[in-house]
Amino acid sequence: MQILVTGGAGYIGSHTVVELLAQGHEVVVLDDLSNASAEALRRVGEIAGREVELLEVDVTDEAAVLAALEGARPEAVVHFAALKAVGESVEQPERYYRTNVGGTLNLVRAMDAVGCRTLVFSSSATVYGAATQMPLTEDSPLGATNPYGWTKFMTEQVLRDVAASDERWSVALLRYFNPVGAHPSGRIGEDPRGVPNNLVPFIAQVAVGRREQLTVFGDDFDTPDGTGVRDYIHVVDLAEGHVAALAKISGPDGVRGAHAWNLGTGTGSSVRQVVAAFERASGREVPVRVAPRRAGDVATSYADPARARDELGWTARRGLDEMCEDTWRWQSGNPQGYATS
Ligand code: UD1
Repeated sequence: MQILVTGGAGYIGSHTVVELLAQGHEVVVLDDLSNASAEALRRVGEIAGREVELLEVDVTDEAAVLAALEGARPEAVVHFAALKAVGESVEQPERYYRTNVGGTLNLVRAMDAVGCRTLVFSSSATVYGAATQMPLTEDSPLGATNPYGWTKFMTEQVLRDVAASDERWSVALLRYFNPVGAHPSGRIGEDPRGVPNNLVPFIAQVAVGRREQLTVFGDDFDTPDGTGVRDYIHVVDLAEGHVAALAKISGPDGVRGAHAWNLGTGTGSSVRQVVAAFERASGREVPVRVAPRRAGDVATSYADPARARDELGWTARRGLDEMCEDTWRWQSGNPQGYATS
């Protein structure tokens, strides 16, 4: 298939492009490079053995998005392009709604105009809000605790309504748990700008010597060791989940309508367990200090991944050690990310 991948130069996008190319699909990437690097795509091309076309377009630019779709004529779209920093979304809500919700509206309109109505959407377990009943199933109550989370919640609703309005639409709402890890080649990985917000990139930068120590946000949660428990999933497993979802919703026999699938492992790991696994994988010590809880953090979050297993034939196969080993291969081989390596 001819596939347009928005945000395809970013962390999850670049790994998904690798898997789509490995399946024999043709891929065009639409990305404004605001939090991504053209070098990532160049390396994706290296891994795949063929170059990937990049359209440098901002999803909030409606005319440019339409022109991109008219040029690329995709049969399906995988939509990653969005802003994703929780704290920043509290400071700049309008920008988050404009890019994440408005960008998706531009994309839907352009897709409709070119007759492409097969869409895989990058959603998040953040749409379960402050849910405390674990594991999370796709039928767990939805909500949000910050503007970023609301943009995912609202975009899902927009897409469900669009799919309900016209039976030609097929939409996969993929709810990611905590993506970590890197391609086993060590050539592509997560390269956050500024201070990492998320746990594993922060640990990786401590291990490689870019930062002094990890701050553990709270060790008084109601969990076995007091630190927060999350469902970490290897980014290559996640990328394979996109391929499986696309197969499910595309072609003449593809399921129509909008469907949500959790992409997680079903297993939770605590902050201390992740630190220990990363120390084993890297052979480096990761000094930690404990600080108060971060606003909005829940004690525990993990998926029930049964629906994706039963309906997509997909399960996450890579464990926490492999996630840390692959992160370390990427981080140690590219201490400054894509910048100077
Ligand atoms: C966060 C976002 C979530 C978003 C996801 C992916 C919040 C509240 N949630 O999820 O909406 O979808 O990232 O971008 O920001 N931790 C530390 N020290 C650190 C960083 C994290 O102890 O320096 C702990 C956290 O308290 C948590 C765990 O590590 O228990 C994972 O944190 P993180 O990687 O930020 O992911 P989430 O909070 O699950």
